[in-house]
Amino acid sequence: MDNRAIGIFDSGVGGVTVLKELQKLLPNENFAYIGDTASFPYGSKSKKTIIELCKKRIENLIDMEVKMIVIACGTATSQALEEMQAMFNIPIIGIIKPTVKYLKEMNFKKIGVIATTGTIRSNGWEEKIKESIPEAEVQNKACPLLAPMAEEGWTDNEIAQLAIHEYLKDIKNIEALVLGCTHYPLFKKIIKTEVGENVDIINTGEMVAREVKEYISKNKMQNSNKEKGNTQIYLTDLECNFINVAKKLLQAEDVKIQKIS
Ligand code: DGL
Repeated sequence: MDNRAIGIFDSGVGGVTVLKELQKLLPNENFAYIGDTASFPYGSKSKKTIIELCKKRIENLIDMEVKMIVIACGTATSQALEEMQAMFNIPIIGIIKPTVKYLKEMNFKKIGVIATTGTIRSNGWEEKIKESIPEAEVQNKACPLLAPMAEEGWTDNEIAQLAIHEYLKDIKNIEALVLGCTHYPLFKKIIKTEVGENVDIINTGEMVAREVKEYISKNKMQNSNKEKGNTQIYLTDLECNFINVAKKLLQAEDVKIQKIS
């Protein structure tokens, strides 16, 4: 048993889509979430910068004495997960491996991946998908405008519809579409309309939550508390729209946010 919190971070509000799934599956766990809003967006930055930012955020979470860390960000997972696992002596889980495991379980062969520019450039998703499913055909598309629009709360308007249509119009004949950036589940409704009912839209947060649950039970790290756990949210910069989007996402009125010291 281990009653310490699970640490999570992302560049902004995207990782809250992962936090939400974790809270659903592990209701009595405590969570410490960092939104690195001072450095948003991660998606347009170099691998070197992403590694530096991840290192700082993981150090912050270790200072908070978390028991493990979830990198709730496709950009950081694809460009820095292995480096962080080599650098720190704490369990660190990213969003790619648990999702690829699911794609294989479901026997998907025609897969679309949408993500940030940095993630698509790194080829992180396609590489890991093909390692696990060699016969898979992967169609990748960078959607750099979507994460900033999600931070703005523009997830269900005409501009979002136009942007998503423009980004997805060339992706054809797929069985599953991986939302390779954790901001994208915020656009799920529009994405579903664009790609059609027959395509499985994959929210990586669900797969990550399952993986974390499995990991903590296998390693006997569950929280022994029977009551609902608590969530602390920290931002590196408070001048942003984070709170409004997070409230909507978590369907909570009292989301409390602190500036990271
Ligand atoms: N939510 C992030 C991801 O999954 C980062 C988006 C960004 O900061 O550009 O890639």
